[in-house]
Amino acid sequence: MFEAVPLRYDGINRLMTLGLDQRWRRLAARRILAGTPRHILDLGAGTGDLSLLLASLDENPSITAADFSRPMLDLLQKRTEDAGLRKRIKTVEADAAELPFADSSFDAVGIAFAFRNLLWKNPNREKHLNEILRVLRPGGRFVAVETSQPGRRHLRGEILPAG
Ligand SMILES: C[S@@+](CC[C@H](N)C(=O)[O-])C[C@H]1O[C@@H](n2cnc3c(N)ncnc32)[C@H](O)[C@@H]1O
Repeated sequence: MFEAVPLRYDGINRLMTLGLDQRWRRLAARRILAGTPRHILDLGAGTGDLSLLLASLDENPSITAADFSRPMLDLLQKRTEDAGLRKRIKTVEADAAELPFADSSFDAVGIAFAFRNLLWKNPNREKHLNEILRVLRPGGRFVAVETSQPGRRHLRGEILPAG
């Protein structure tokens, strides 16, 4: 699904949250930065909204944006270039079930609207949680911003690739 919808994804997210998603991401970014992290992982980074916010709010931390969808990362890279933030945000194609990072690599891990993908009805959810814990340093900060699963099928995105 994420391979099929990256260009429409941002608009869909805005619609599903009635435009509140950016405000919630900003709150999440501030919580992450309050811990004065040096290395931040944006997991399930998608087209990069959280990474871009983090980079624009604080010029100090290094930001790694990881996602398993190449089309999402391509769009993210274009957006970081357009924003002049290419050097601040490193993109990594990676599955959350097997992250290519050493133990305790990050002072903070942020997830925006991707935690449900990692947990809900996902047979790899234990792996995802273990990997987040493994790459986060002891005492590090984990911040997730998420909506609940919409009840209506057409809002859940089940028909998005074809619709
Ligand atoms: C709903 S989008 C959220 C994107 C972005 N974080 C945002 O705030 O708009 C969910 C993202 O999680 C990614 N994703 C889902 N499962 C993943 C996994 N197992 N490993 C890495 N990325 C994953 C998808 O490719 C997609 O880009």
